[in-house]
Amino acid sequence: MHVPVLVEEVVTALDPRPGKRFIDATFGDGGHARAIAEMVLPGGMVLGIDWDPQQVLKHKDRVEKHIRVIEENYANIERVARQYHVYPADGVIFDLGFSVFHIEHSGKGFSFRKDEPLIMRYASAEKGLTASDIVNEWSEKELERIFQEFGEERYAGRIARALCETRKKKPFRTTAQLADAIMRATPAAARTMRIHPATRTFQALRIVVNNEFGNMKKGIAGAYNVLGSGGRIVVITFHSLEDRIVKELFRAMCAEGKMRLVNKKVIMPQRGEVVRNPRARSAKLRIAEKI
Ligand SMILES: C[S@@+](CC[C@H](N)C(=O)[O-])C[C@H]1O[C@@H](n2cnc3c(N)ncnc32)[C@H](O)[C@@H]1O
Repeated sequence: MHVPVLVEEVVTALDPRPGKRFIDATFGDGGHARAIAEMVLPGGMVLGIDWDPQQVLKHKDRVEKHIRVIEENYANIERVARQYHVYPADGVIFDLGFSVFHIEHSGKGFSFRKDEPLIMRYASAEKGLTASDIVNEWSEKELERIFQEFGEERYAGRIARALCETRKKKPFRTTAQLADAIMRATPAAARTMRIHPATRTFQALRIVVNNEFGNMKKGIAGAYNVLGSGGRIVVITFHSLEDRIVKELFRAMCAEGKMRLVNKKVIMPQRGEVVRNPRARSAKLRIAEKI
């Protein structure tokens, strides 16, 4: 089960009360949604959105009248909020990225620690771009660019070159094959680093496959439109590239006089939370309020 991060801080920021309506744009296992939903009865509700059909299916048979979960891309939050009558909403939460479920149980190749097909899609695996398409078909130059831009990978050039050489002999089919090729392309000194040499390349592939940054930008802009005045957007990010985008989006909306920042400085988990849940260590929370 995914352990939700910064739950207390999210609940404090959104201040759920009876009758209020919220959207959890990244429902996952519903940790945040349930913490919010507990406080909106009577009369309130939480609409949960998740792009991954497997995530939505897990909640299908649970009877939680005040939580409704739908399969959608949060980029479409405005249409969805109207369709499900959560418009205007009192608050929207985004807890970005993937969940423990994706790593442990999805079978879609999100982790180099498992040997799985190279899919990496949140959305239905049957259609659309996969990580396998990218590593087997994109040019060396394109691979280098995405590994640099979306993974901040120092050895992007070497890894891109090695992948293009390796795939001439045998196309990449699995995460283990890919992780092994990345490992071999990385200088020996870097192989002993704290993070696995494939971490950044896998991150870049996941971001590109799911158009994560494009969806974030659309989703946050859409969330603004969905909110009533005084409503809040809270966003939890897990790496610097995501956090920078959120910071810039919020800054631009504040400069236009549309929102105000609730926390000038980013909120990070307390030490105790990081000890209990090491995944929380890189989490950052930003909150903005619609004027
Ligand atoms: C970090 S998890 C959320 C965990 C959740 N807060 C909890 O308490 O269990 C992020 C979730 O967002 C979903 N997701 C990623 N991109 C999405 C998108 N564009 N639209 C909707 N859901 C998305 C993923 O499938 C994943 O389940």
